[in-house]
Amino acid sequence: MTSTPPGTLGIDFGTSNSAVSWAAPQQLARLIALEGKAQAMPTAVFFNAEDQRTHFGRDAVAQYLGGVEGRLMRSLKSLLGSPLLQEKTEVNHRAISFAEIVTLFLAELRERATRALGHAPTRVVMGRPVHFVDDDAARDAQAQQALLEAALAVGFEQVRFQLEPIAAALDYERRLTRESVVLVVDLGGGTSDFTVVRLGPARQARPDRNDDVLATTGVHIGGTDFDQRLSLQRVMPLLGYRHLGPQGREVPSRVFFDLSTWHLIQWLYLPRALSQAQALRADYADAQLHARLMTVLRHRDGHRLAHAVERAKIASSQHDAPAEVDLAFVEPGLQALLTPEALRDDLADLLQRTVACARECVQRAGLPASALDAIYLTGGSSALRPFQRALQAEFAGVPLVVGDLFGGVASGLAYSAV
Ligand SMILES: Nc1ncnc2c1ncn2[C@@H]1O[C@H](COP(=O)(O)OP(=O)(O)OP(=O)(O)O)[C@@H](O)[C@H]1O
Ligand SMILES: [Mg+2]
Repeated sequence: MTSTPPGTLGIDFGTSNSAVSWAAPQQLARLIALEGKAQAMPTAVFFNAEDQRTHFGRDAVAQYLGGVEGRLMRSLKSLLGSPLLQEKTEVNHRAISFAEIVTLFLAELRERATRALGHAPTRVVMGRPVHFVDDDAARDAQAQQALLEAALAVGFEQVRFQLEPIAAALDYERRLTRESVVLVVDLGGGTSDFTVVRLGPARQARPDRNDDVLATTGVHIGGTDFDQRLSLQRVMPLLGYRHLGPQGREVPSRVFFDLSTWHLIQWLYLPRALSQAQALRADYADAQLHARLMTVLRHRDGHRLAHAVERAKIASSQHDAPAEVDLAFVEPGLQALLTPEALRDDLADLLQRTVACARECVQRAGLPASALDAIYLTGGSSALRPFQRALQAEFAGVPLVVGDLFGGVASGLAYSAV
């Protein structure tokens, strides 16, 4: 291993996917292949109870979906800034906090980057959303602090933070041939982030870009919220959500919220949660619905269900056609359907709130929408068809430019320190 050459690592620790890039001074950033050839890697950790090892990324997801005994953790970023971060959980006979699991994941990213680069990077720029937590500055600061501590713990010596949408803008700028005012939209798994920036070849070299950032806004809404909403509307009723019991009262809904929320699923498998769910039997008139709920919980199929909903969401959006959520693992022949209309209607209020956040960003920049040269889209959820429609309706006539959905933020982060 050689000594560290000058350069900066960019780490986009995402709610759903993470990516890492490297930029030597004055050079283009390059994304690092993290898993085989893949540059983005699911932010997923699986504690395999059979081989007692910890697995990451696609490997983690595949082991879980393949039925290997163990525990899957997803949406770890959603726990930053929440008291749950310090909570301990038992995996493979040891108690470990979620903060430590975040650290394990970052250590793995650094290790993979080190292998690819042939040297251990010491300087890192980490991405952060405009708000980790909405409307709570103290918890927001805690979230960044937790990430800082994790980065220092895995061996980085110099750690800086950059807003994710600004990083995306810096990446997009490398493609521009003329000066432009751009609304950058980063719609990911956990958050929606916006910035209005002045970009251009002549501006790139400026050491301080603060004057070019006209506004930033963000809201804690992302693809995992879309999955939650679609699951609640279309799938959870099959397990008893809104089902009326013998006394004409609805089954208490908490379990269905947790089961459709990526970062809360794993708590439902604890013995206490299982016995609480079992006790809900008395609140059901239809025993079959309760049996389905218990099957999902006992088989630890919560993430499998969330994955099935997510896949159908993406398929329905991509093909603009109905997509099936195959629930045969719950009960033979059971399925739900996600249609383009369901996506539009079920997600309408969430999409309106994200579009309102984009509007506010342009207003804060002090510009009329007509002053925008382009809207640059990054983040996996920016591909969602009803979102693009809502955005285009808001900013009629402004061209939408679809960027690198999963790598743009990481590339731009590495530029932030140059
Ligand atoms: N084609 C698609 N259409 C709609 N949604 C998609 C598509 N592809 C991926 N997604 C969604 O994008 C999200 C992941 O996007 P991304 O990897 O950009 O998020 P992230 O960077 O991990 O999250 P964040 O930036 O909020 O922390 C997931 O919710 C996924 O379901
Ligand atoms: Mg992201």
